[in-house]
Amino acid sequence: MASARGEFTSRFGFVMAAAGSAVGLGNIWGFPTQAASNGGAAFLIIYLALAFLLAYPALMAELILGRHAHANAVNALRKISPGPLFRRIGVSTGIAGFIVASLILSFYAIVAGWMIAFCLASLSALLGMDEASTWLTSFSFTRNVIFMLLFMGLTIGIISEGVRGGIERWSERLMPALLVTLVLLVVYVLTLDGAMEGLKVYLLPDFERALSPNLIISALGAAFFSLSLGVGTMLIYGSYVSDKENLPVLGGMVTLVDISIAVLAGFLVLPAMYVALHQGVEIFTATGELISEDTLIFTVLPQLFSTMGFTGIIVGFTFFFLMSIAALTSSISMLEVPVAYTIEEHGISRKRAVWVIGGVIAVVSTVILLNFAELFGLVIAATTRYSQPILGFMFCIYAGWVIDRNALLQELKKGNPGIEQGLFWKIWPWYVKVVCPLIILAIFAQTLFG
Ligand code: PHE
Repeated sequence: MASARGEFTSRFGFVMAAAGSAVGLGNIWGFPTQAASNGGAAFLIIYLALAFLLAYPALMAELILGRHAHANAVNALRKISPGPLFRRIGVSTGIAGFIVASLILSFYAIVAGWMIAFCLASLSALLGMDEASTWLTSFSFTRNVIFMLLFMGLTIGIISEGVRGGIERWSERLMPALLVTLVLLVVYVLTLDGAMEGLKVYLLPDFERALSPNLIISALGAAFFSLSLGVGTMLIYGSYVSDKENLPVLGGMVTLVDISIAVLAGFLVLPAMYVALHQGVEIFTATGELISEDTLIFTVLPQLFSTMGFTGIIVGFTFFFLMSIAALTSSISMLEVPVAYTIEEHGISRKRAVWVIGGVIAVVSTVILLNFAELFGLVIAATTRYSQPILGFMFCIYAGWVIDRNALLQELKKGNPGIEQGLFWKIWPWYVKVVCPLIILAIFAQTLFG
């Protein structure tokens, strides 16, 4: 059955595709910016704690449910439910994930479009086309729509090829190149004046700040966003993994890669902010807030590249090119959520499903761009800060309470005959049942009443 739906051809293919989904704008545009506006190190600590103590176990819940059911989130939750009530709640959760994934894609495509525009701006600068370069880097509705559409077109094109042809091929090439570029940029930025100040902000925590409800819920959203949780993406990817694979190890690898890249990006973006400040670029308002969170890295990174002279143009091109690809390997995993559901549920062709759904999302993106000041931040907060953790909570409940316990344990044993001796076996089954839901509830309670 699994092979009829497509399956990852290798362990490497799965890790790269899941890491490709996880690593994206969340790591380089989202996490560092949020760290910068939430006291740096305080945010980093809470983010790391939540990533390992909550997001990793929640990721395992999705992967295991997915492989067990061999289906998209809606069908998976329906299949494992014992009675009509749980079935109904499960289906609603899956459909909510489908809607949230689509909404995430609607703002994601906008930001990814900026990445493409900045990549082409470096190319134009290289060719001496300064006017084009200026247009590409200035914030206009026309530019934003054109590049959002271009990005959506690319996503649609890849997704219509299906799992094997599309996702795996793109994911396997990107990660090493992105990692090397990031490391080189971090080494470079740390040699510049002002960088140390940024490093201090990133590494020296202000503990009082670490406990503010606003910071904790932002870090929760950032961790869930970065690991692509709560919308059914990872559940679907789990459903494409063969029974021979050891899921806890694979999930652990994906988490490590994802979190490392986010932390590394922080070592680039926060120092780069203070380097830019040192060079006279306005980053903060008079009250110490960031002037523009959404576009921060599009100010400070080009400023950093400009200190490298001609080389900077090439570095800028490489960086924004790799970021565009990283965004694509994430966006295809978002679009796969509604597409897999529509194909499996309504039996229409993949091509048709992809074009119709992709088209609707592009319309939503356009509406956001038309009302940028009102909608952009709102959609991001509603999806990543609230919806993803709440839906992640539901997946933990289904993995912990609803699915037949025996079936869950059998699933864990697949691909890992010695698991009963390990820590994962002893801890995870009750941890996902009790601790994960409680952490999420506690954070929401603290935000509401704290
Ligand atoms: N994890 C992706 C990123 O960091 C975003 C994402 C969210 C992807 C939800 C899929 C589903 O960019």
